[in-house]
Amino acid sequence: MKQIYNARVVSNERAVDNLFRLVVELDAPLYAMPGQFVQLKLPSNEFTLRRPFGIAAFDQNHLTMFYRIVGRGTEFLSTVGEGTQLDLLAPLGNRFNFNVEEKILLVGGGVGLAPLLSVARMFEGADALIGGKTAIEAELWRNEFNGAVDEMFIATDDGSLGAKGFVTELLPDVLARKNYNVILTCGPIVMMSRVASIAREKNIRCEVSMERRMACGLGACLSCSIDTVNGRRKVCKDGPIFDAREVLFDV
Ligand SMILES: Cc1cc2nc3c(=O)[nH]c(=O)nc-3n(C[C@H](O)[C@H](O)[C@H](O)COP(=O)(O)OP(=O)(O)OC[C@H]3O[C@@H](n4cnc5c(N)ncnc54)[C@H](O)[C@@H]3O)c2cc1C
Ligand code: FES
Repeated sequence: MKQIYNARVVSNERAVDNLFRLVVELDAPLYAMPGQFVQLKLPSNEFTLRRPFGIAAFDQNHLTMFYRIVGRGTEFLSTVGEGTQLDLLAPLGNRFNFNVEEKILLVGGGVGLAPLLSVARMFEGADALIGGKTAIEAELWRNEFNGAVDEMFIATDDGSLGAKGFVTELLPDVLARKNYNVILTCGPIVMMSRVASIAREKNIRCEVSMERRMACGLGACLSCSIDTVNGRRKVCKDGPIFDAREVLFDV
């Protein structure tokens, strides 16, 4: 059940470039499922709206998130020091939907790999296809996924680690190697749209983790709506996880 937690910052460190790893200790146990997210209230009157972040790992009282600095809120978050108390609303949204007997392929790009990490850490036996601009970021994710997945495939834009190109270019080769039952994907919308269409061509079920700017995070303001074959749906309440065949990608 969702609730507001007092979250004490245990560490808030730059992982690589403008990507940070934030670990907090909660004042009560959190029971979440992979794919769900949290809304953080930044400790400054300058920010009235909470900011949504995916859950990368949690064990009852500790929660790990990764965030990229993209604007004023995340810039401010990067200055928050150890011991600071944050107000955190969790768990929000739905979960990735899969059966533990299914062979799962996780496909992620950049900070989109964060929520996929929670799948890998909670359920053994998945494979991961990791995409990064350069070796520096791809290496971070390789280390995070190491030991949590059966097999990893890596693609970097410049070829500095793994295959050269986008994950979507490597995806058909990866799919040819094993019989995957389901693909779970999170990352840039262009990437997810392409992953969804490859999955459809290969007749493999695919779930996408959608992102929209959010205000309430609770289904009340409609600011996070997306178009689907079933009409307008709210990412915060009906998602963020959707069956890829349902989403009308606006790319
Ligand atoms: C369900 C969900 C999970 C998320 N998980 C993560 C995560 O694990 N790590 C992470 O780094 N980010 C995540 N995001 C995105 C993150 O919430 C935004 O980057 C953050 O709120 C930006 O705050 P800001 O004040 O720094 O940026 P702002 O100053 O508000 O905006 C800066 C730029 O970022 C864009 N932006 C803002 N919010 C979003 C958003 N929700 N989606 C896409 N673009 C946005 C704006 O259009 C603008 O171009 C998630 C978003 C959602 C909806
Ligand atoms: S953020 Fe308000 S309805 Fe989704």
